[in-house]
Amino acid sequence: MSGSAELVSRGLTKAYGRRKLALSDVSFAVPTRGIFTLIGRNGAGKTTLTRILATLLEPTSGSASIDGLDVMADARKLRERIAVVPQEARTVAWMTPIQTVSSYLLWRGHSYGESRKRAAEALARVGIEKYSDRLNRMLSGGIKRKVLVSMVLASEARVIFLDEPSTGLDPISRRELWDLLIAIGKERFVFLTTHYLEEAEQVSNRIGILEDGKLLSMGTLEDLRKEMKYGYSLVLPQANSDLPAFVGERYLRRDGQTQILTTEDEALAITRKLVEERVRFSLNPVTLDDIFNYIVSREGGTSGTEEGRR
Ligand SMILES: Nc1ncnc2c1ncn2[C@@H]1O[C@H](COP(=O)(O)OP(=O)(O)OP(=O)(O)O)[C@@H](O)[C@H]1O
Ligand SMILES: [Mg+2]
Repeated sequence: MSGSAELVSRGLTKAYGRRKLALSDVSFAVPTRGIFTLIGRNGAGKTTLTRILATLLEPTSGSASIDGLDVMADARKLRERIAVVPQEARTVAWMTPIQTVSSYLLWRGHSYGESRKRAAEALARVGIEKYSDRLNRMLSGGIKRKVLVSMVLASEARVIFLDEPSTGLDPISRRELWDLLIAIGKERFVFLTTHYLEEAEQVSNRIGILEDGKLLSMGTLEDLRKEMKYGYSLVLPQANSDLPAFVGERYLRRDGQTQILTTEDEALAITRKLVEERVRFSLNPVTLDDIFNYIVSREGGTSGTEEGRR
């Protein structure tokens, strides 16, 4: 076990005081390479799990280890190997990005010269070198988040925790961050949380779905796909009731469109009729968004599409 390149969670449970469990018996193992992304709605327990694994919070019961180091017993040693950007992380207003990143590296034990050099490289890699010497408080929210990402990137940590790094970024910056994450994931292990399912789909090697403190599903996108009976999603502009009988599931989405999850053959039969009737539709392989809604609603949750399910 010791030294194995894995993140292992064994029955992690967390109760904040006497409130209902924020995490309930979470067990899984993932190799510590590439990108593992945790998805789940507000309050699902993503930050709680991230903080426990990053040695910032003690679990109520259960245990976890990263590369054979226990998050409780070996916390000191583990902290040298990990770097964290918590969800609520903020930059210090009166410091500049270069000072922010290099002081973090100094604190991690690098020399002054090396800290400055690594910091400058990281800021350049994140694409914000032109802001290096401005005061953090003068920067936009998105650039401040990029400064935080630069800190962990500049560190030598092999394991990086990023709790919702893309929140607050504009669509272009978000995509740039995805490219950066994919590049980081080639060299180190990234533990990511996000509310952007397209982001999770684009960057992750493995994905975990957390709902109400429980891990509902875990695996590659392909593994998650297999949990759904249906591989195709057909979307019609309105509540179209005049459809041939088919094998699949029909939802009325919140946006008023009809979504049908079905097999490839069934989808082809339905779309033939729609084409004949000149009804607009879109047909796509299921996305992580579809899978997430399906898995969460299957467990009795109330996801967006589930509410309109017939
Ligand atoms: N310090 C705390 N004290 C009491 N309850 C807490 C505390 N931190 C979190 N909780 C509760 O634990 C549950 C899980 O919260 P957590 O922050 O882990 O969720 P999350 O998945 O990160 O949510 P979000 O997507 O909104 O960031 C929630 O019900 C939350 O209210
Ligand atoms: Mg959170």
